[in-house]
Amino acid sequence: MSADDNKASNAASGKQATITLSGNRVVQMPVRSGSVGPDVIDIGRLYANTGCFTYDPGFVSTANCSSKITYIDGDEGILMYRGYPIEQIADHSNFLETCYLLLHGELPSKAQNSEFCTTISRHTMLHEQMTRFFTGYRRDAHPMAIMCGTVGALSAFYHDSTDINDPHQRMVAQHRLIAKMPTIAAMAYKYSIGQPFIYPRNDLDYVSNFLQMCFAVPCEPYQIDEVRARALDKIFILHADHEQNASTSTVRLAGSSGANPFACIAAGIACLWGPAHGGANEACLNMLKEIGTVDKVADYVKKTKDKSSGVKLMGFGHRVYKNYDPRAKVMQKTCHEVLNHLGVKEDPLLKVALELERIALQDDYFIEKKLYPNVDYYSGITLKALGFPEDMFTVLFAVARTVGWIAQWKEMVEDPEQKIGRPRQLYIGPSRREYVQLDKRA
Ligand code: ACO
Repeated sequence: MSADDNKASNAASGKQATITLSGNRVVQMPVRSGSVGPDVIDIGRLYANTGCFTYDPGFVSTANCSSKITYIDGDEGILMYRGYPIEQIADHSNFLETCYLLLHGELPSKAQNSEFCTTISRHTMLHEQMTRFFTGYRRDAHPMAIMCGTVGALSAFYHDSTDINDPHQRMVAQHRLIAKMPTIAAMAYKYSIGQPFIYPRNDLDYVSNFLQMCFAVPCEPYQIDEVRARALDKIFILHADHEQNASTSTVRLAGSSGANPFACIAAGIACLWGPAHGGANEACLNMLKEIGTVDKVADYVKKTKDKSSGVKLMGFGHRVYKNYDPRAKVMQKTCHEVLNHLGVKEDPLLKVALELERIALQDDYFIEKKLYPNVDYYSGITLKALGFPEDMFTVLFAVARTVGWIAQWKEMVEDPEQKIGRPRQLYIGPSRREYVQLDKRA
């Protein structure tokens, strides 16, 4: 197959791709160009014109949609939200402004910013009946299990924002999800440690409010630590969106059938839970603990290169980044800032992490396969220093990613090209055979 720039033009880009099938049958397909990034071959008519499907497990070469939200160049290590480089947003913006940018496509004016912050703060409480859900879970339930169930249950409580064909209801659902996710996450945490729920405080900013819901107790005042709040805000910004990753694609696929936004986000949370995706930060910290000391790092790296061990270097590698994940650079800096602020001079896990990174980045196996630290490599150490237990790490990721999921969901619902997601398959099971009655079988 060749993408030939000189072929007759099509409305999309002026380029066409040619496929030559057996029997020298030639089929041409339009090529579309984005604003930046690789072209895509539009194979929408391929089956109708040739009777063939494409085969691409894991969507390695397949674009499932067009999107204006987030751009990644994995070879160069670039990530941009609505065109703004992640490093600039992490240094100068805050999480709620980032939410506005992702949802609306532009940075807010001062008035828009203040209105948006007020709107989000007005939706932070949960329907009181929902608080009783938590006591139905086992005390030792993983908080991601609680998140899947409770977020899905939002659709049972907020019927006035489940009509996906009503733009106002879509907007209210977005606000509710962004506002209520920290409340649900904090309640899941409080329930797991047997402490009373702490209600949201609308005089605090988004992240400070979340910290107080997690760490305040009713019997004494809670002081917000600015450095911790700023670090968590940065972590939220870094995790806010990442174009068509597994959980976002799950949200889009669930939403493509017309399911309500709360159900779709619950589907995204389920996908995020896996250790190959959002569960990697928890798995990475567990790995660092298992290694324990710097002298054991080299042996561990050896194990991760041996496929039969089934062990991977958690927090390393990425489907898209074949370079240093730009979020990992910001995360590493934030990790040092938090540890310095807390006076942790010699964090044993950080020492292991630095040595592990040093050895892996010099190792031919990791160099050849272009495996670099991803955002999860340093986020676990930072979140632990901020006081969160390991099983809350992926929950925090879900809180941050909710805006990306819901922005992508809205874009999909409003996309005139949107269709129900329905991949095809290469069937390799038995061909037709006749049913044999049970009494005629051995
Ligand atoms: N440690 C050791 N080897 C690895 C690792 C790793 N962390 N990651 C990939 N490889 C190897 C694979 O075994 C494979 O080897 P092969 O070519 O000899 O078969 C090769 O590198 C390519 O890896 P794939 O698994 O094919 O890459 P894919 O794009 O499918 O997977 C993934 C990417 C899932 C992130 C993978 O790198 C991984 O499992 N990493 C560890 C988990 C992790 O950190 N996940 C977080 C992702 S970021 C996020 O969700 C925020």
